[in-house]
Amino acid sequence: MRVSVIGCGHLGTSHAAAMAELGHEVIGVEIDPDKCATLAGGASWFYEAGLNELLARHVPTGRLRFTTSLAEAAAFADVHFITVGTPLRADGRGYDIDQVLAAVGNLVPLLRRPATILGKSTVTVGTVARLQEIIDRAATVDGVELAWNPEFLREGHAVQDSLYPDRILVGLSSPAALAAVEEVFAPILARGDIEMVVTDPATAEVAKSAANAFLAMKVSFINAMAQVCDRTGADVADVARVMGIDKRIGPGGMRAGIGFGGGCLPKDVAAFTHRLGELGAVDAHGLLTAVQDVNRSRQDAAVTLVENAAGRPLKGLTIGYLGAAFKAGTSDVRDSPALRLADRLAGLGATVVVFDPEALDNARRSNPRLEYREDAAAAVAGADLVVLATEWPAFTHDADLPATAAELVRNRTLVDIRNAVVDGPWLAAGWTIHQLGRPTRKP
Ligand SMILES: NC(=O)c1ccc[n+]([C@@H]2O[C@H](COP(=O)([O-])OP(=O)(O)OC[C@H]3O[C@@H](n4cnc5c(N)ncnc54)[C@H](O)[C@@H]3O)[C@@H](O)[C@H]2O)c1
Repeated sequence: MRVSVIGCGHLGTSHAAAMAELGHEVIGVEIDPDKCATLAGGASWFYEAGLNELLARHVPTGRLRFTTSLAEAAAFADVHFITVGTPLRADGRGYDIDQVLAAVGNLVPLLRRPATILGKSTVTVGTVARLQEIIDRAATVDGVELAWNPEFLREGHAVQDSLYPDRILVGLSSPAALAAVEEVFAPILARGDIEMVVTDPATAEVAKSAANAFLAMKVSFINAMAQVCDRTGADVADVARVMGIDKRIGPGGMRAGIGFGGGCLPKDVAAFTHRLGELGAVDAHGLLTAVQDVNRSRQDAAVTLVENAAGRPLKGLTIGYLGAAFKAGTSDVRDSPALRLADRLAGLGATVVVFDPEALDNARRSNPRLEYREDAAAAVAGADLVVLATEWPAFTHDADLPATAAELVRNRTLVDIRNAVVDGPWLAAGWTIHQLGRPTRKP
C-alpha cells in the first residue's frame, strides 16, 4: 500500500520505518527541513534502538523516503498517518492541538482522490469530531475518510512495538475506513496473534488516555509505597515483587524510583486530568491529580536521599551523574526526571557532572548550566558521590563500572534513584548503595 506519515518525530519516524519494513511504500513528511534532510540521508535525528538499521535498509531502495512537501504526500498515498506533536498548552489547560489541526487542515484540500486519514497522535476526546468537520468543509473529492488509531509504543522499544504491537486500536465510523485500516495493518494481523479492537472514535480517544493514566497510576502507586517503606524500614523492591506476582496486578511499571517523565506520560496525564475537570468527572479527576502530586514529590524524595547519602550539605559537593535521558533506550530528554533532579542539585550548590550514552547533546542544549563529560569514568572522576539517574544497562549491568568508578571517586557512595542496579558488583567493589524505599546496603 502507499502510505504517508505526517510528522517524523519520535513516533512518526519509527512508524514510517516499520511501515516500510512491513512491505508498504512509504513517504514521511517532516516540516523541519534539518530533520527531514537527516532522515532523507538514511539516519535518524534522535536515538531509538534499531531505527537506524531500518532506515539504512529502506531509504536507499526508495521504499521509504522523506519530504517537506505535503502536496507530494497527498498525491502519493492512499493512507495518511498523522503523527505530529500534541504538547501541553502553555497554561497547562489541555493539549495544544494546533499541529494536528494544521496537518489535517492543510492535507485535505490537496487530496485529489479517495484517501483515509489515520490519526495516531494522542488527542483529547472530541478531537476526531472536530477534524471531521474540517474534512466535511475542505475536501474537494468524495471518499476522504477519517479514523483514529492511537499509538501505544514505548520509547526505547519503538521499532519493536511498531512491528509487534500488543493490540491495534482504531476508532472509526465508516466501513471504508475499516477496509483501509485492515489493509494497512494486514501484515501484522496475518500473524493471528493480536487483536484489532474497533470502536467509535470517542472510545478510542478515551481508551488511549485511560491506558496512559493507568500506567502513570501504577508508577505513582509503587512510588507512594516507597515512601511508606522509607518510614517503616521495609523494602519496596520486595513489596513490588510480592504484589506483581498477583496476575491481577502484574509486575510491569512496579519499580519504584524518581517517577515518570518523557514526551508523553506527564503531558498526557495532565491534559486528561484537565479534561476530566471540564467534564465534571470528579472521581477520575481526583485520582489523577493525586497521581501527579506523587510524581512531583519524588523529586523532593530524591534530593533528600542524596543529602542523606552525602551526610553533608550539597553546596560544594561534586556529583558524578550517570544518565540524562528520561529513560533508557532513548536520547529524549523531554520532561526528564533525571535532568530535572540534576538541575535541582546544581541549584542547591552541587557541581553536577553528567554523562549519558545517547542523550548528551540534547541534555547540553536543554540544560547548559550542568557540566558534561563524554564517558562515565570522566563524569565520576573526582566526585564525592555518584548518582545513577537513568537505568541504562551500561550503568546497571556493566560488571566493570563499579570497580573502575571505585578508583575514581572520593567516597564509594552510590545513589541509585532508579532502583535499577544489580547490587553484587557494586557491593564487591566497596560501594554503599542508597535507593528510594529500600534499606541502605553496605559492602
Ligand atoms: N513518542 C512516543 O513514544 C509516543 C508514543 C505514543 C503516542 N505518541 C504521541 O504521538 C504524537 C507525536 O509524538 P512525538 O513524541 O513523536 O513528538 P515529536 O515532537 O517528536 O514529533 C512531532 C514531529 O512532527 C513534526 N511536525 C509538526 N507539524 C508538522 C506538519 N504540519 N507537517 C509535518 N511535520 C510536522 C515536528 O517537526 C516533529 O518532528 C504525540 O501526540 C504523542 O503524544 C508518542
